[in-house]
Amino acid sequence: MKAVAVFPSTKQVEVIDHPEPAISSPTDVKLRMIDVGVCGTDKEIVTFQYGTPPDGSEYLVIGHESLGEVIEIGAGVKTLKKGDLVVTMVRRPCDHPECVACRAGRQDFCYTGDFTERGIKGRHGFMTELVVDDEKYMNLVPSALRDVAVLVEPLTIAEKAIEQLWQVQARLPWACPIEPGQSPGYCHKAVVLGAGPVGLLGAMALVLRGFKTYVYSKNPLPNSRADLCSAIGAQYISSETTSVDEMAKIVGGIDLVYEAVGASSLAFDVMRVLGTNGVFIFTGVPGRKSPIEVNTDLLMRDFVLKNQVIYGTVNAGKQAFLDAIGDLAEFRKRWPDAVKKLITGRFQITQAIDLLTGKVDGIKNVVSLR
Ligand code: BGC
Ligand code: ZN
Repeated sequence: MKAVAVFPSTKQVEVIDHPEPAISSPTDVKLRMIDVGVCGTDKEIVTFQYGTPPDGSEYLVIGHESLGEVIEIGAGVKTLKKGDLVVTMVRRPCDHPECVACRAGRQDFCYTGDFTERGIKGRHGFMTELVVDDEKYMNLVPSALRDVAVLVEPLTIAEKAIEQLWQVQARLPWACPIEPGQSPGYCHKAVVLGAGPVGLLGAMALVLRGFKTYVYSKNPLPNSRADLCSAIGAQYISSETTSVDEMAKIVGGIDLVYEAVGASSLAFDVMRVLGTNGVFIFTGVPGRKSPIEVNTDLLMRDFVLKNQVIYGTVNAGKQAFLDAIGDLAEFRKRWPDAVKKLITGRFQITQAIDLLTGKVDGIKNVVSLR
């Protein structure tokens, strides 16, 4: 079967012929892939900055944002049947007995770093025709979400971030006074950095929870990403025409910054304007650039005197997948056009190389095997 693979030793990216996987345990499920999304991580893998083939293989099949359809199930499979649509999780646990995170099924918090990730680290991914995995890593998706469910995995990044936000803010009186018809976060203001898929999906998740949400991103107005923000009730502010300090004035007290660009200079500049009791969440993985100057005294002072919290978050657990599927259904109900517009292109597997080597723009581009 066809698969898109990287060969790190020879620095090649190719559509290859890859052996079909087979069901080998009673809880295995075989999927026919429908959609596979392309993200920044994939682009790093095809430029050989990241990505590790499985032991004994000279190549890695890439792809970790997926939607598949069940075509065969092992004898012991209880939760899925033929024809079901599923999104498969990315990360698999390490095998160190002392890793309490992995032993508890929370490999997204793996301590040892010896986890594997499908399509990224030590395991083949989903940009291929057929995939087999254990049912416990698969999440059932309602068939009504078929055209957008490839967005579930990138949305899990926001879900895991927000899940932790509520836990972190349990440290203080933070819950908004109960108001009929208002979602729980209505008294808080959130700034999303970046209008890529993780940023825009994060903005949707924050708006859904009632946050007054601003998206701060580089493109000047007007632009299609800004239109998308207005469609969901978020305000787009361009960093090209509005400085960080001006943005902070427009927003007022910033309760939350959700970073989704992976640009540390912008992030640390915005950190200066985080509000009292505010939380700053990092989701982006910056490339290595030259060092920048940051006023560490000022930041440290504010972290102490304003009770601020900063955390990074990667990957996602089962609950984040369930929440993402639920939220995506809700986004679709509220903003059907905006959600569809996040997917800006569908390509055949034979066009995947162009897509991956970055000659195509758009928000979320997808390899479609429908
Ligand atoms: C994926 C995560 C993964 C991370 C680091 C991201 O693009 O969405 O699932 O953990 O890359 O490899
Ligand atoms: Zn672990």
